[in-house]
Amino acid sequence: MRVQVAIIGGGPAGLLLSQLLNQAGIETALIERQSRDYVLKRIRAGVLEWGTVEVLRSAGVGERMRLEGQIHEGTYLACQNRQFRIDFKKTIGRQVMVYGQTEVTKDLYAALDQAATTRYFENVSAVELHDLQSLKPFVTFTHERESKTISCDYIAGCDGFHGVSRKSIPDSVRKEFERVYPFGWLGVLSHTPPVSHELIYANHARGFALASMRNPMLSRYYVQVPADDKVEAWSDQNFWDELKRRLPEEAAASLVSGPSIEKSIAPLRSFVSEPMRWGQLFLCGDAAHIVPPTGAKGLNLAVSDVHYLSEAFKRHYLLKDDNGLLTYSETALARVWKAIRFSWWMTTLLHRFPEQSDFQQRIQESEINYIAESSAAQTSLAENYTGLPF
Ligand code: APR
Ligand code: PHB
Repeated sequence: MRVQVAIIGGGPAGLLLSQLLNQAGIETALIERQSRDYVLKRIRAGVLEWGTVEVLRSAGVGERMRLEGQIHEGTYLACQNRQFRIDFKKTIGRQVMVYGQTEVTKDLYAALDQAATTRYFENVSAVELHDLQSLKPFVTFTHERESKTISCDYIAGCDGFHGVSRKSIPDSVRKEFERVYPFGWLGVLSHTPPVSHELIYANHARGFALASMRNPMLSRYYVQVPADDKVEAWSDQNFWDELKRRLPEEAAASLVSGPSIEKSIAPLRSFVSEPMRWGQLFLCGDAAHIVPPTGAKGLNLAVSDVHYLSEAFKRHYLLKDDNGLLTYSETALARVWKAIRFSWWMTTLLHRFPEQSDFQQRIQESEINYIAESSAAQTSLAENYTGLPF
């Protein structure tokens, strides 16, 4: 079969790109190797930059988010047993939306079900990209033990960090940048009321902690753990006790604990692969870059890339203007690197590194205290956290 754009990967990036191109009448085929349930089971951050909210609304998937999402106009930083608020509205005139990635993905699946486009989910294997440097690239794969070939004009690699797309760019062309952090995040989801109406990012000599939420009766908490720690080593009680040690006493005293309904450890890394285009292949989202979750940028960067690429494809097909395609990699990477830097900065500021000296702990505390006292520093943090302009 033949389409205009073949999309590899049906996570947030692939689903959103499919929806935006379908809306513009551009023919797509989406290939996702896992089942929908498997994709929905991934627990991910749910802090949406306002630019992300606007893109999702333009894609026609903003209604449930409007009804069920929570607008946050600030966040808290904490250290040395005290917390202070960064006011997004007052400093930068912006806000964020707290609405889980799982919910965004459900809304995108619902939109896909309304679209008459080709999609392959589950029982997909042996996906290979061919002739990427020609004007007639194609994708081969197996679906339910049947060999398939999709010819297309372009391929969008939205298949995440472990996908096939990035690796289809020759090693001689690709330049990869990586920082693996020497710790992970142990996360717990619980049917309990959040300890705070807004997020609390806490620096503590014992390690980082984060208090977040999904809705007024679904809390999400994290504590930093060693990179080689095992989730089996953590009982719920041990988790709650450690979380309370790291949050300011004021918050710890009112924290409602309960059974974990999800408990897992995620590694932290910063990663960028350049370029994000090679021939007729364009990379979006985690296929091209990974951020530590500290700045809540993973989903937002996937949306950022999809915004640029969908606009570029629309200009190509509807206006016969290739400028967006020609500048995609440079444009997307410019914004990616600013989010990579911010996520690295938040991670370095808030986490306890192995062998960290007392001097380095004081440096972190003094920077947080400077932010507490400086409207300029708070404006800079707010500007990056709520999302730089596209
Ligand atoms: N063929 C088809 N599909 C594939 C292949 C393949 N060879 N390899 C991976 N996939 C699918 C995965 O099953 C996954 O559903 O590609 C999808 C990639 O989705 P994500 O990893 O979620 O990446 P992305 O869509 O860029 O979204 C980034 O999701 O994982 C979070 O933290 C990340 O918030 C960020 C967001
Ligand atoms: C979450 O709610 O899972 C979350 C929120 C903010 C982050 C990371 C994770 O920075």
